[in-house]
Amino acid sequence: MQPDERARSAGRSHLETLWRRGSDLLGTEYAILGGAMTWVSEHTLVSAISNAGGFGVIASGAMSPALLDEQIARTLDATDKPFGVNVIIMHPELDALIDMCGSRGVTHVVLAGGLPARATIERIKDCGAKALAFAPARVVARKLVRAGIDALIIEGMEAGGHTGPVATSVLVQEILPEVEEVPVFVAGGIGRGEAIAMYLEMGAAGCQLGTRFVCATESIAHPDFKKAFIRAHARDAVLSAQIDPEFSVIPVRALANAATKRFVETQRAVIARYRAAEISQRDAQLEIERFWAGALRRAVVEGDIENGSLMAGQSVGMVTREQSVKAIINELVDDASRALHRSEKLGSTEAGGVPMIGAVSTA
Ligand SMILES: Cc1cc2nc3c(=O)[nH]c(=O)nc-3n(C[C@H](O)[C@H](O)[C@H](O)COP(=O)(O)O)c2cc1C
Repeated sequence: MQPDERARSAGRSHLETLWRRGSDLLGTEYAILGGAMTWVSEHTLVSAISNAGGFGVIASGAMSPALLDEQIARTLDATDKPFGVNVIIMHPELDALIDMCGSRGVTHVVLAGGLPARATIERIKDCGAKALAFAPARVVARKLVRAGIDALIIEGMEAGGHTGPVATSVLVQEILPEVEEVPVFVAGGIGRGEAIAMYLEMGAAGCQLGTRFVCATESIAHPDFKKAFIRAHARDAVLSAQIDPEFSVIPVRALANAATKRFVETQRAVIARYRAAEISQRDAQLEIERFWAGALRRAVVEGDIENGSLMAGQSVGMVTREQSVKAIINELVDDASRALHRSEKLGSTEAGGVPMIGAVSTA
């Protein structure tokens, strides 16, 4: 065995131990979730992630129950491995979507878009599925645990799409040592296996990545959308700008483009009309909110990368080429294994092996 191969296989068993709680909950080989991405995470990408040993999640977004039924059926046709469905809690047909998951035997439902009601969590569990939800703060994590959630995802502001105000590096310190009742998965800004290893060593049960999977060969995102990701650097993935504290803007991280600039100009013009008493505050707020309607579809499906929304996380700088899902997952697992082997070796050296420079006794 080559030294590199030896390092990987030694670290691999440590990796399996560290994420066992996560992989047991998901029913997968690897505790790596492919975060649901509206318009991107459909049956092809989701089944590819699950077939490669990870956990694919269908993004139901604004889908009707009938459309979700079709997506679940096509995913079931393509994989016999576990996968999940992400539902947005504001969806007007939330209960019907959950019941649809139940009737199709979906094993995991991920609740997104805010704090879910206890009744929603119970509905999922009554269907025989596990309920997962996002916890953007320690107090929310505690509430969700009390409400019976099966697992949590903590997602920092580095993530692509709708995001919270706190960095992943801070959330993990606040939440991981405090929440032991359920497995906690970490998301936001993860581009390589070394970061997965680091969060696992801090107590995470696994990790969720979105941005890294956008340019997978199996992703149906438009070729121009993928090219924009491959060209981009971390600093290009910016938060939507709010120019006036009186008019809220939903924080979304996306690649800067012509639409990003026009959004600021639109806010300025709309707020000026409000100040001139030409429109009400409510109408002004609605006009600002409507700006991005349909924009993600425009970019992902139609490839309009200047006028659409290029939702992407800061890890976009680590997306350098199109790769198969299997190659992406294998790379993440190998890098995580190597990193764990390095830290194990370091630990054993410090514990009694070769003395470290500067630690030579003067006695
Ligand atoms: C294009 C895009 C669309 C997304 N859509 C959703 C969504 O519909 N529901 C959701 O819960 N998260 C959504 N996310 C967040 C991802 O599921 C995932 O948590 C996030 O991408 C992880 O951070 P990363 O981008 O740094 O890997 C989206 C992210 C991206 C990049």
